[in-house]
Amino acid sequence: MEVKKIAVIGAGAMGNGIAQVGIMAGYKVAMHDVEQRFVDRGLGTIKESLAKFVGKGKITQEQNDDMLARLTPTIDLKAASQDADLIIEAVFEDMAVKKKIFGDIDGLAPAHAILASNTSSMSITEIATATKRPDKVVGMHFFNPAVLMKLVEVIYAQKSSDAAIQTTVEVAKQMQKVPVIVRKDSPGFIYNRVNAPASLLLQLILDKGSPTPEQFDAVFKGFVPMTPFELQDYVGWDIIIHTQEYYSKTLSKDYTPRKALVDLVKAGTLGKKTGKGIYDWSAGRPTIDTSNPTTEFDATHMVALQVNEATKLLEEGVTDSPADIDLAIANGGGGIGPFTLAKGIGYPVLVQKCNELADKFGVEVFRPTKTMQEGKIEV
Ligand SMILES: NC(=O)c1ccc[n+]([C@@H]2O[C@H](COP(=O)([O-])OP(=O)(O)OC[C@H]3O[C@@H](n4cnc5c(N)ncnc54)[C@H](O)[C@@H]3O)[C@@H](O)[C@H]2O)c1
Repeated sequence: MEVKKIAVIGAGAMGNGIAQVGIMAGYKVAMHDVEQRFVDRGLGTIKESLAKFVGKGKITQEQNDDMLARLTPTIDLKAASQDADLIIEAVFEDMAVKKKIFGDIDGLAPAHAILASNTSSMSITEIATATKRPDKVVGMHFFNPAVLMKLVEVIYAQKSSDAAIQTTVEVAKQMQKVPVIVRKDSPGFIYNRVNAPASLLLQLILDKGSPTPEQFDAVFKGFVPMTPFELQDYVGWDIIIHTQEYYSKTLSKDYTPRKALVDLVKAGTLGKKTGKGIYDWSAGRPTIDTSNPTTEFDATHMVALQVNEATKLLEEGVTDSPADIDLAIANGGGGIGPFTLAKGIGYPVLVQKCNELADKFGVEVFRPTKTMQEGKIEV
């Protein structure tokens, strides 16, 4: 099926980014939100971002004007949906709100239209039950900021057809993105799931009180664009606690938020957005003292947890392709893929690191899988 018009539902952080990606890829795009001021704010963000592309010489003024002429901001859901070939929902994480929207757009959109959700954590299979076309409901998970990040996870819900997935993949390619197919609708999909145990480790270290976040981050400074605790500050501890709670319900009780994390959120020290989290962000990016790095943990511990979780995705059938996992991590902002790193480090070392962490913290989520112990994955 050829997609000519896309409707994006929700003009917030992700919605306006996705709408911009759509017009930049040559599509007609309707961007819908519930109130005019939200639509206007989204449109303002798109205009500012396009102006920067013009300023840098990446697009011409004419291209800018042509892109904006193909964008229709609207508070009228019917007008947005009635002639759309693909509808991408990007409203906040609330199952009831998402189901209501999918029920509504199912009644408004043409019979051939694909309905996609950009959800990071809700079950797409459940969202699809609000429609009479579950075969045409898929996940289309962009990363933040959508304009810059290359990865798009295209997710099969239980009843998604191969044709709907294939069309969504083609649209992502047209958008100059790197689509990775997720075969099973499961918590965290690929990118977020692979990084989940490492985020848990940081939470546990914080709760233990030693080493200090700064001693831990000192190990990574210079090797990664942002050190682990700095990155958590950047994401926001409110988002992190929400995700950990979600994983504690869906993956393992091991993810239950510990006291230090709860206290951080209660105190409102959420990170960059509040000016203070672990670090002080009031004067911009924090300076991290690298003079006293911990010797208790090293970068291999973090890699071991990533590789181990990635093997669970293979064992659970979330994907059957180690190369796709590496592709997802590399294009979602995570640097080199876990299986490529594992090849260099060697599985016996990684297994030992996982066992060490599992024993130290009494956390079974860290325990190496059978696939990890066999250590035979080729990429
Ligand atoms: N922010 C991220 O880093 C990120 C990354 C990937 C995916 N996501 C997912 O994207 C979705 C949106 O997240 P966000 O960060 O853009 O949220 P946001 O709060 O910035 O924007 C949500 C927008 O949805 C609008 N909205 C609410 N109800 C609506 C309705 N019934 N109809 C139309 N619009 C409605 C709100 O007015 C708001 O403008 C969520 O499902 C989230 O999980 C977020």
